[in-house]
Amino acid sequence: MDITLLSSPLQGFTDFRFRNAFQNYFGGIDTFYSPYIRLNGKLDIKPAYERDILPKNNTTLEVIPQIMTNDADEFLFVVKFIQSLGYKELNWNLGCPYPMVVNRCMGSGLINDPQRIDHILNRVHSESDVVVSMKMRMGYEHSGEILDVFPILDKYPLKNIAIHARIGKQLYKGGVDLKSFERCLESTRHKIYYNGDITTVQGFWEMQDRFPSIDHWMIGRGLIADPFLPMMIKNNSAEYPENRMIIFGKFIDTLYHEYSEALSGESHVLMKMTSYWEYFSNAFDNPHKTLKKIKKAKRIEAYERAVSEILSE
Ligand SMILES: Cc1cc2nc3c(=O)[nH]c(=O)nc-3n(C[C@H](O)[C@H](O)[C@H](O)COP(=O)(O)O)c2cc1C
Repeated sequence: MDITLLSSPLQGFTDFRFRNAFQNYFGGIDTFYSPYIRLNGKLDIKPAYERDILPKNNTTLEVIPQIMTNDADEFLFVVKFIQSLGYKELNWNLGCPYPMVVNRCMGSGLINDPQRIDHILNRVHSESDVVVSMKMRMGYEHSGEILDVFPILDKYPLKNIAIHARIGKQLYKGGVDLKSFERCLESTRHKIYYNGDITTVQGFWEMQDRFPSIDHWMIGRGLIADPFLPMMIKNNSAEYPENRMIIFGKFIDTLYHEYSEALSGESHVLMKMTSYWEYFSNAFDNPHKTLKKIKKAKRIEAYERAVSEILSE
């Protein structure tokens, strides 16, 4: 079966700089979802959101923009904006689990309000020709919440529903709930994409065996922790290229230079790179020791020395 791999968005990580560097050195991802656009009560797009999806910043990538909102006017405003840049599809985030979002009835906090979801989808489909896709958890409090949303979603011509097989309350803790995910497959007419905890080639194939009808898979943190993963899945091989560390070194060097140009001040660049290393370190034999080395570096020179030590070990 042909499989499609999608990069699941991570706000603060998978911006256009990361996506371009990833595409250049690794590949294996068919489509990238950009991190959500969120308006804060004003119909106004922040420059950083715009920069992230400008076609000139994404020339070699297929990108689908994402919105997080609970308001039809905001949704329609962002539709106009992305359409003005040439995009045809907008992905709707009903998955974010953080209290600041959930308490405002957004992200996974909106899943238990099917009527509001209906109202928004109704207006978006009657007042625009945008293609809508969903990315959601199975609920906030419990995994049955999504079952009350499916009959609403079934009324609309959605492109797909990507499901992160957790509930919001879990944040990122505990495991994915594959039994409840399985129930979702039987409960909607829409095409379902799977998302959650794909971190190894072996783990991917176990999932594919368990869910043979799924052919679209979204990978989030696993792709940052091990950027070789999507290509290895596509090649059906758990073998890294011989020059693995050289490629990885060039990749982080590119990221480092990109952020040095974009951010002001050494400490911001170091903070940014350290946040990536929180993920990168997982692909090394001793993640804790690796991350500790990076965190110890308070100046650029020390950071560069730490990286070269880690890569040569
Ligand atoms: C730091 C962070 C930021 C995230 N930002 C977004 C986002 O902007 N939009 C979204 O749909 N999901 C976001 N997610 C969720 C991921 O896309 C993904 O659904 C989740 O991590 C589960 O998939 P994974 O196990 O493959 O990482 C974020 C997750 C993390 C940890």
